Amino acid sequence: DKAGHRHFMAKEIAEQPSRLTTALNHYLAEDGTFRLPGQGLDFRAMDRLTMVACGTASYACLVAKYWFEQIAGLPVDVDVASEFRYREPPIPPRTAALFVSQSGETADTLAALRYCRDKAATILSVVNVAESSIARESDLALPILAGPEIGVASTKAFSCQLVVLALLALEAGRQRGHMDEATHAERLAALRSIPGLVNHALGLSEASDRVAAKLAEARDILFLGRGRMYPLALEGALKLKEISYIHAEAYASGELKHGPIALVDKSVPVIVMAPHDELFDKTVSNMQEVMARGGQVLLVTDREGANVAAHGVWEMLVLPDVAALWAPILYAVPAQLLAYHTAIAKGTDVDQPRNLAKSVTVE
Ligand code: M6R
Repeated sequence: DKAGHRHFMAKEIAEQPSRLTTALNHYLAEDGTFRLPGQGLDFRAMDRLTMVACGTASYACLVAKYWFEQIAGLPVDVDVASEFRYREPPIPPRTAALFVSQSGETADTLAALRYCRDKAATILSVVNVAESSIARESDLALPILAGPEIGVASTKAFSCQLVVLALLALEAGRQRGHMDEATHAERLAALRSIPGLVNHALGLSEASDRVAAKLAEARDILFLGRGRMYPLALEGALKLKEISYIHAEAYASGELKHGPIALVDKSVPVIVMAPHDELFDKTVSNMQEVMARGGQVLLVTDREGANVAAHGVWEMLVLPDVAALWAPILYAVPAQLLAYHTAIAKGTDVDQPRNLAKSVTVE
């Protein structure tokens, strides 16, 4: 049931405010205490967190790496499951392994989990399908409560994965004494405001549609982001190529001059994901390098970013202000909308893109 939407993907994008609220309410008691099933989790007993996943779920892990390291001082490795499973990575004691999967059935992710079975101190998973193999084989499985996701392109599962990982990172930071009470409370309040902001961001659908008419003509598209926005650039590029079949690549903004800038000319739109945060000026200078070579920049930013960096850009999508830490959750929405509208402009099969399966149960 598409609930009046043209595609499941559109429905799933639109559902995010309510799904995110459900996930937050599931894990937070009235007084803001974090609730976990069973014995809970002792983050002080961990020296390292190893996160493993595939595709979009691996980008959720990459965002979470920035969070766990900054908020909790907990070192994190992130690996794609197909690489992790055959590399025989050593798992030192006091390492927790965390697997993220919408379906909970992805063959490589499950194999990576089994590899960690007798090696990691604890096996955690963040899944959408609560009865899945990955959930069943974990010591502790945390549901994201996104509801069934039908569109092959993952949307609401990604944002719900991010919210659950954000809550875990906050809890880790609190337990490990890495932030004071006031900072914790402030960050939690900011996280609770995300569903409302996501609702606002859905209003960018029309603007995304307008921009998409031009994106649909491109042969190649670059995405740039810095810091916690780098994984969002990766997610934007994956989403776009999955459903519009346009070649899209993402780079950490700082990598631009180490190679990819050679690709830039006036036929290559460059999508820059950059809230006005502590790294904004650096991203803007990368953006200027792109514009100096004729690149058409689409800047995805907030009001302040739009005020100071509009000069010379081709188009802007302006999002509401958001706490810098949680911006990746909000910026997932324009990444999804751009892919969706570009696919529509190209006339591709949005919900069932060619060559792809919703759940990859063979390696
Ligand atoms: O079910 P999983 O989360 O384990 O799936 C992982 C990837 O196959 C998945 O995220 C894929 O990249 C999506 N089609 C992305 O939109």
